[in-house]
Amino acid sequence: MAKKIEKICCIGAGYVGGPTMSVVAKQCPEIEITIVDMNEARIAAWNDCDLNNLPVYEPGLAEIVAEARGRNLFFSTDVDKAIAEADMIFISVNTPTKTYGKGKGMAADLKFIELCARQIAAVAKTDKIVVEKSTLPVRTAAALKSILDNTGNGVNFHILSNPEFLAEGTAVEDLLNPDRVLIGGENAEAIQALVDIYAQWVPEERILTTNLWSSELSKLTANAFLAQRVSSINSISELCEKTGANVDEVSKAIGLDSRIGPKFLKASVGFGGSCFQKDILNLVYIARSYNLHAVADYWDQVILMNDHQKHRFADNIIQTLYNTVSGKKIAFLGWAFKKDTNDTRESAAIYVADYLLSEEAEITIYDPKVSAERIYADLDYLNTRSSAENRRLVRVVSDPYEATSEAHAIAVLTEWDEFKGYDWARIKQEMKRPSFIFDGRKLLNRAQLEEIGFNYYAIGE
Ligand code: UDX
Ligand code: ADP
Repeated sequence: MAKKIEKICCIGAGYVGGPTMSVVAKQCPEIEITIVDMNEARIAAWNDCDLNNLPVYEPGLAEIVAEARGRNLFFSTDVDKAIAEADMIFISVNTPTKTYGKGKGMAADLKFIELCARQIAAVAKTDKIVVEKSTLPVRTAAALKSILDNTGNGVNFHILSNPEFLAEGTAVEDLLNPDRVLIGGENAEAIQALVDIYAQWVPEERILTTNLWSSELSKLTANAFLAQRVSSINSISELCEKTGANVDEVSKAIGLDSRIGPKFLKASVGFGGSCFQKDILNLVYIARSYNLHAVADYWDQVILMNDHQKHRFADNIIQTLYNTVSGKKIAFLGWAFKKDTNDTRESAAIYVADYLLSEEAEITIYDPKVSAERIYADLDYLNTRSSAENRRLVRVVSDPYEATSEAHAIAVLTEWDEFKGYDWARIKQEMKRPSFIFDGRKLLNRAQLEEIGFNYYAIGE
């Protein structure tokens, strides 16, 4: 009989920890869940009475937080207390790509994970099940176990890997109705304790148990396969532009083959998000560390193609605008890495903007959910130019018509639904002539825009 879990602590109140634990709290009202984070501002935002101020925007999330918060869902900065009281601890802290030292730009930086492990070991006075939720390189569980066992107070730790497969923008839907839940581990009772939690709303046949390493590697592999599909179709989009084929028609034609399937075949300005690039870099790094260079090169190409696609999009803007964007106003519609999220990590928009700014373009940005502060932080992080220069060249506005007025060109970087419904005739009226649209998401209606008089360019057409 597996131990019944009464209290859960989740370390890390970000895009993974926040939505995941909110849904667990909703589905398991008898379990008390405390999400902790050392970032005080983030916890204050999760506790804000005004649900518009939650730090993560996801459709349906505010309603769930409203239902569970204060009942069996709590947000706190008291990490030690939550660890001490919990039977099960989820680690959902960030694991960015290393920016220093060995493996710089490739390997995952595990310092936040290690700090968590040390803190758990120092505080725990009773047995704990520790669950890896963050995406981690294969065999991280071994490192976790070593730290816990060697620095702990003699209590037992069981480690499980339970990678999160939710996609941002559909997090709540994905959590409520997952394709599968994956649990890797060595201790049958610990595995069963976590299975019992998910089984409250996920059909048992969709709960998969494996050994630890298979679980860890499956997460990296799933993201690598998904990203590979996007890079594959993006590579074909370039060929379409040269040959007169239309990439949407090609996607549809191949996607109807049930062996290929229709999903993740949408050509775009390039994939972004906190996972795809990071996880592939991780895979490449692990392969190289075992001297598997053919494997590493194979997956590396998925990233190279993605970089090429972003670059190519920016280049096309410059070439079309008579080989110079210097001093020209370019309006960006969208900054988030996909619609229905305020997350901008690795968004293609950041790299396209950086490239155009290096050509002295003046960019005005409108995104319905991303703050000006976030946009400037994203650009400053690249360190291409001074922060003052970024602020001189980039303006962030809260009205799309202000963004596009007097612009030489519009670039669509995110597929927000609202862009489709704009008054495009008015936008055309207020722009410079000739008026160009570069649609990095194949979102808008070519016939309608050409009728109004736009010069419309879309990826893969
Ligand atoms: C991804 C995985 O889907 C998810 O399972 C994992 O847990 C985390 O990483 P996420 O990054 O949130 O999720 O979004 P996803 O929908 O996968 O999109 C990633 C990027 O690929 C986005 O920039 C998106 O615009 C782009 N994309 C996706 C395409 O360009 N074309 C497609 O056909 C699909
Ligand atoms: P993800 O997309 O993986 O959820 P985020 O960056 O959105 O990543 O969230 C991770 C959160 O983890 C951040 O809010 C960060 O402050 C928090 N965090 C990192 N290390 C620790 C730690 N040792 N203790 C508590 N919180 C931590």
